[in-house]
Amino acid sequence: RGIEELDVPLFGRRSRVFCRYRGYVLPSDIVNTVVNDIPWFEVRPDDTWVVSFPKAGTTWLQEIVYLICNDFDYEKAQATTIEDRFPFLEFPYPGVKVVAQSPPPRFIKTHLPFSLLPKQLDEKKPKVIYIARNPKDTAVSLQAFTKMINYVTFLGNMEDFAQLFVEGTVFYGPWEKHVKEAWDRRDEENILFVTYEDLHKDFRGTVQDIARFLEKSMSESQLRALEVHCSFSLMQSNDSVNYSWQQGVLFGEGQFMRKGKVGDWKNHLSSEMSDKFDAMVTSLEPSGLHFVDS
Ligand code: A3P
Repeated sequence: RGIEELDVPLFGRRSRVFCRYRGYVLPSDIVNTVVNDIPWFEVRPDDTWVVSFPKAGTTWLQEIVYLICNDFDYEKAQATTIEDRFPFLEFPYPGVKVVAQSPPPRFIKTHLPFSLLPKQLDEKKPKVIYIARNPKDTAVSLQAFTKMINYVTFLGNMEDFAQLFVEGTVFYGPWEKHVKEAWDRRDEENILFVTYEDLHKDFRGTVQDIARFLEKSMSESQLRALEVHCSFSLMQSNDSVNYSWQQGVLFGEGQFMRKGKVGDWKNHLSSEMSDKFDAMVTSLEPSGLHFVDS
């Protein structure tokens, strides 16, 4: 079926084994879902999808999209975790079958690249927003996350992890292939490409673009309230988005909402490693894709 098992010794034996499938590295416990269920998942035109490489600011974008599409009903958002109101398609919880049967309008998160998404996506054309983040901060955030999750043991240090990231041997890698697939489709009418750095630099302008794409209007005071609600410090202490419910379950020590900065990589990566990331980004530049990393 085209699934190749990978041995990445730096991920200890207690870790989920990796597989390579159609050029992407996936945790082996989701690969069956990705191969057998996701291609046939029934897409609806009124779905709203958030797609990303892990740690790109997915949760931040999910909360923005959810509120824009739900009349800024903060009480409703607060009442249920983001995992329940905006489920993770390929993850065991709540599971692809539950998502398939959810009443409309559905909000769906996935870390799968476009080439592994349901076949009906092109036909039903739901609104899809892809968020990308500069790879250096993405790698640092992903390493911190890897240390936090209970089902993965990483035996190396940050530099080792960054090297695997550049080689494409981390979950959902290679990063540049994932991002490029989305970038190449950015002009399709039902696809919007945004970056973590855009949200940082110009939250209001980016959110207005998102609302326009979602065909929703928002007043100045609604935008102001959303900006406050989605600030890093409020999201960090918001128990419906900060994944505190997974503490002691999927997560051990550490915080999901870690630093929320652009450029934190400077505290973690050597200049030699930074050069390797720059080479990866430079390889994307002929397509017009650029990243800000400070
Ligand atoms: P850091 O680990 O660099 O802090 P994802 O949701 O895709 O897993 O991404 C998580 C990253 O987005 C984490 O990055 C997290 O802190 C950051 N993030 C989440 N909400 C944010 C917000 N409101 N403002 C800035 N960064 C945010």
